[in-house]
Amino acid sequence: MKITVVGTGYVGLVTGTCFAETGNDVTCVDIDANKVKKLSSGQITIYEPGLEKLFERNLKEGRLSFTTSLEEGIKGAEVIFLALPTPPGADGAADLSFVLNVAAHLGKIMTDYKVIVDKSTVPVGTAERVAAAIAENCKTPFDVVSNPEFLREGVAVDDFMKPDRVVIGTTSERARKVMGDLYAPFVRQGNPILFMDEKSAELTKYAANSFLATKISFMNEIAILCEKLGADVDMVRRGIGSDDRIGKRFLFPGIGYGGSCFPKDVQALVKSSEDVQYNFKILNAVMDVNERQKLFLLPKIQNYFNNDLGGKHFALWGLAFKPNTDDIREAPALYIIEALLAAGATISVFDPEAMSNVQRLLSNKNGKIVYAEHQYTCLENADALIIATEWSVFRTPDFQKISTSLKNKVIFDGRNLFDIARMKELGYHYESVGRIP
Ligand code: UGA
Repeated sequence: MKITVVGTGYVGLVTGTCFAETGNDVTCVDIDANKVKKLSSGQITIYEPGLEKLFERNLKEGRLSFTTSLEEGIKGAEVIFLALPTPPGADGAADLSFVLNVAAHLGKIMTDYKVIVDKSTVPVGTAERVAAAIAENCKTPFDVVSNPEFLREGVAVDDFMKPDRVVIGTTSERARKVMGDLYAPFVRQGNPILFMDEKSAELTKYAANSFLATKISFMNEIAILCEKLGADVDMVRRGIGSDDRIGKRFLFPGIGYGGSCFPKDVQALVKSSEDVQYNFKILNAVMDVNERQKLFLLPKIQNYFNNDLGGKHFALWGLAFKPNTDDIREAPALYIIEALLAAGATISVFDPEAMSNVQRLLSNKNGKIVYAEHQYTCLENADALIIATEWSVFRTPDFQKISTSLKNKVIFDGRNLFDIARMKELGYHYESVGRIP
């Protein structure tokens, strides 16, 4: 099938590459000429494990190409995916201007039947608005389908190639057939393609992310309670997770969720609710809990250093909002850095992938932030180590090296990486989230 993907950001590039991998002829369109030039010459623009290999192969075999021209990009295409940014506007609602502008442009240039697919996370009712924007100038029949993505950064290729489910929102039989054929190779193991109406598909995406964010915030509050009552959140997590109705996954407490999806989507669903005069109480609480949780370690650090962080130097491991990505959007580490600097401390940071993104965002704040070359050089002369992201390389570190580099054997761990008994044996002052020290 010939496919066009408009927008070569994270979702667009993964979508385009994975569809090419199953034998489709994919053209990706982006207004950023520089990006198109890079991608056309074989330089991948995002870090995502496993993607580069597929990208290079499909580019070489001519199944994947890039252009800045929408007109050229849609020539002969049966399906056009819109994978465009939908940033939160000033009022928290998703800004649809990119999506609607491209839709209007498509309406002017389409000359035969096409299925236009909303891949971006968009509020309920967007498919209707996209259809209206296309219809304004369009002379050919078309269908607009909502097909939300459920990709996780870091495992996006796997999630795309082997999805738990594919959600397709359309009431058109013709579009349903096209989309069913396109996704058939991805659901051979029996996972379902769920066909539904457009609005239900749109809401499914927000409901999924909001539910997962709620699960995390719930566990973060249980962790707080564990500390106050003298219980161990690891035990409670296992105790509840073995109930199938609850499930084992996404029950790990920590220093809050971040990234480009959960914070934005929870906020957007709250806003959509307000628009129809509904106060979505749980989600408002989820946002509050998460804001507070990002600074969960601060009182512990303050307390250990007798409320005087002036002149203290900290080592921070982990800057990305989660492992296997260089994405620092809404990363708890950024909040910790700001709070420590505000309290008069200095800080050395290390992350396997996200260093340059943080450097670009924060610079070195007049020498108060040092960007360490290595996870162990990061520790030199630090009064304590703080861990903000659960990268694998931090899970089984050389504790000998840690104790010789740090000034004090003190670790504040926001991701519960180490065994409490082991840390005691090694002589560390070790504090984590919701566990009995
Ligand atoms: C999330 C969803 O998981 C995807 O299904 C969805 O497609 C995507 O958003 C999106 O809307 O595009 P992602 O943001 O890449 O994916 O990251 P997750 O792996 O879901 O993690 C989100 C946050 O939750 C991270 O900050 C992580 O540290 C935190 N988390 C996750 C916890 O604190 N505890 C857990 O048990 C699990």
